[in-house]
Amino acid sequence: MKITDFYDYRKPGPKISMITAYDYTLASLAAESAADCVLVGDSLAMVMHGHPSTIAATPDMMALHTAAVARAVKNKLVVADMPFLATRKGLEHAMDTVEKLARAGAQAVKIEGLDGHADIVSHIVTSDIPVMGHLGLTPQAINRLGGYRTQGKDEASAEKLLQDAQELEKLGCFALVLECVPEELAARVTRSLKIPVIGIGAGRFTDGQVLVMQDMLGLYGQPPSFVKKYLDGRRLVKEALDAFGSEVKDGVFPAEPSGPGRPDAKPYALTEKERP
Ligand code: KIV
Repeated sequence: MKITDFYDYRKPGPKISMITAYDYTLASLAAESAADCVLVGDSLAMVMHGHPSTIAATPDMMALHTAAVARAVKNKLVVADMPFLATRKGLEHAMDTVEKLARAGAQAVKIEGLDGHADIVSHIVTSDIPVMGHLGLTPQAINRLGGYRTQGKDEASAEKLLQDAQELEKLGCFALVLECVPEELAARVTRSLKIPVIGIGAGRFTDGQVLVMQDMLGLYGQPPSFVKKYLDGRRLVKEALDAFGSEVKDGVFPAEPSGPGRPDAKPYALTEKERP
């Protein structure tokens, strides 16, 4: 899926799937997969760097990971997150960050929230950099939100979210991520917008879904309850690492020439003189 496919998108179209990737190896699998587009999310601060929140993500960190992903993903849209405060330090800083991400290979940027930076969203859009909005649970606001909780549960906050979504569409966003909102609100927002709405923890009725790859592969800690684990990755990887550790200790790996793990034994076989 290219950015122009998003522009052509008409509801109800086929559902859109977006998956996060932060490194070359997993991004190359995303590139070969059925996922429609790839997000270099600022969740990389947690998943790749072990920080407790996305607040630790910086423009340079985002650009480094975006470049690695973009080297692997040539066939799908690559979206990169504008990290914490990137839209709050003035237009110049915002545009410097957009430039870093675009030069690293992002074809679009995702921006959390709207209040106080609508002008920056508009400037980025009119600078020909496609912008994906992000409303609901916006993890960069964790210190205000006080926890990773469902947003828009009361009528006032639901109404505000709906209006912000409509404003983002007016400003020219090409898509919107809705994170952790009640299913009915997500459906309401989705119906009210022309642009596609991609949900995460927002139920069934959005135009698409996004997941953090390490969550759905079961690789990163305890995922949020809405995540479907498509693989028991931690167990499988740990089993492989345990097998390697034991086989080295037990002298099973490397095997004798031409045994398992030694297909190349011949060219590198020791001569009589070199043998211990
Ligand atoms: O950073 C991220 O991974 C995200 C997704 C959860 C939407 O923003």
